[in-house]
Amino acid sequence: MLSPPASVQVPTQIVIFGASGDLTGRKLIPAIVDAACRRAFNAPVQVIGVDLRPLSSEAWREELQPKIAASQAHIWQELAPNVHYHAIGDGSATAFAHLRRHLDELAGPMKHVVGRLFHLALRPSLFAGTIESLANAGMLKDDPLRIESWRRVVIEKPFGTDLATAQWLNLTLRRHLREEQIYRIDHYLGKETVQNILAFRFENAIFEPIWSSQHVESVEISVCETLGMESGRGKYYDSAGALRDMVQNHLMQLLCLVAMEPPTSLDAESVRTEKVKVLKSLESFEDPQDVWRNVVRGQYVAAGGETGYLAEDGVAGDSETESYVAIRARIHNWRWAGVPFFLRTGKRLHKRYSEIVVRFRVPPADLFSGPALADVCRLRPNSLVFRIQPDEGIRLSFMVKQPGLGHIMRQATLGFDYKDLFPGDSPDPYQRLLLDAVAGQATLFIRGDEAEAAWRFADSIRAGWTAKGAPPPVTYPSGSSGPELADELFHGCEGVWGTGA
Ligand code: BG6
Repeated sequence: MLSPPASVQVPTQIVIFGASGDLTGRKLIPAIVDAACRRAFNAPVQVIGVDLRPLSSEAWREELQPKIAASQAHIWQELAPNVHYHAIGDGSATAFAHLRRHLDELAGPMKHVVGRLFHLALRPSLFAGTIESLANAGMLKDDPLRIESWRRVVIEKPFGTDLATAQWLNLTLRRHLREEQIYRIDHYLGKETVQNILAFRFENAIFEPIWSSQHVESVEISVCETLGMESGRGKYYDSAGALRDMVQNHLMQLLCLVAMEPPTSLDAESVRTEKVKVLKSLESFEDPQDVWRNVVRGQYVAAGGETGYLAEDGVAGDSETESYVAIRARIHNWRWAGVPFFLRTGKRLHKRYSEIVVRFRVPPADLFSGPALADVCRLRPNSLVFRIQPDEGIRLSFMVKQPGLGHIMRQATLGFDYKDLFPGDSPDPYQRLLLDAVAGQATLFIRGDEAEAAWRFADSIRAGWTAKGAPPPVTYPSGSSGPELADELFHGCEGVWGTGA
């Protein structure tokens, strides 16, 4: 979708705060090792893990070793001498000054020409304090006369817990950093299939002319998961819920890519400006009834031997946190006025899949069906399905005449599967995003105003849920396709929720 695959062209230190955390071991280090395997480092790269507990670099490397794929062991051997650990102690000003000295020592003669990426793989409550400490230690200033000594910060999600906290965090960041130095991550944007949405829309001339309310009946975005509260996530999740954990970020991003206008170029400002316009046109819910009519929140209950949400570790026994949410949303602009956007995500559903279904309008007159054949012949909307994961691909469905004397119509599909055309693994989203941040390419990261606009929409839903008289979450059996009530959101529309088939 974007500029050629990013690679590291200048000496770089990747400084990971939260070195002992799950994300570092599971995603960041394997992404760096895989990037090295793919020969993406054309200049020296050092990785410095920072965390509270005292640990030697050797001991940290040993902890990381099992996270590395056996096939990449030889690259890990090459990289390991450049992987270091720094204990930040009490996190005081002195401790940060010490970190700065340590980074300079590691850089040696390159210390004036080394770029530094600070990746905050931390609890969100630590983002602001860490930025302040880095700034106070003079570690965020880059030298405009030496472009190679850049300083950038990657911030993990969730970016705030509502609009007010996101605004406050943005203010803190902007006190010390220019927007071009800030990389707010949403790993969905690093997925190949997600990047391909824009490529598909804007590199093929046939779909864009019909990409509007004139021809599109509805758009569905579903991100269904079979996972529940594994890996001790119950406590975090219970304070977040599906709306904050998934809708405000991943689903909003998918919505933007499907609905945005063509950008003038693929640079960060052009693409993100178009996404912000979509988010600003997304109608917030005006009052609680509007939310109750158009949003379904659900919670899974025990079934098929699986634990119910309320019995999960870390979850309050009387929690009303939603593990599922389905929304009928509206975008108020010329292109999309009147087209419902159905958004859905949930945990412990029957199947793991993410897809976007664009359903086109049915022809105005149906010549082929008769009452006797209403079932087989019923016109179904043509649909274009972007399968984000798994079984990545694209499907176009249309009606065909069944061979024979009668006029029986059937649905058929044209399909493209990534694995057929592109055998071999795609890089993990984190690899793409890390390399982009090092290369200073921010197109696949969230701009500050974008995060705020997405929170404005999510907050309008929460306001409906916390209003007096709000119905509690409806339940759905673990392993099912979610609450039946969500089907009612399709009222007056052709189509039903996809099944991921
Ligand atoms: C994370 C959420 O951002 O995305 C998780 O916090 C969710 O709850 C995960 O499971 C889904 O990501 P993916 O790439 O597995 O679809």
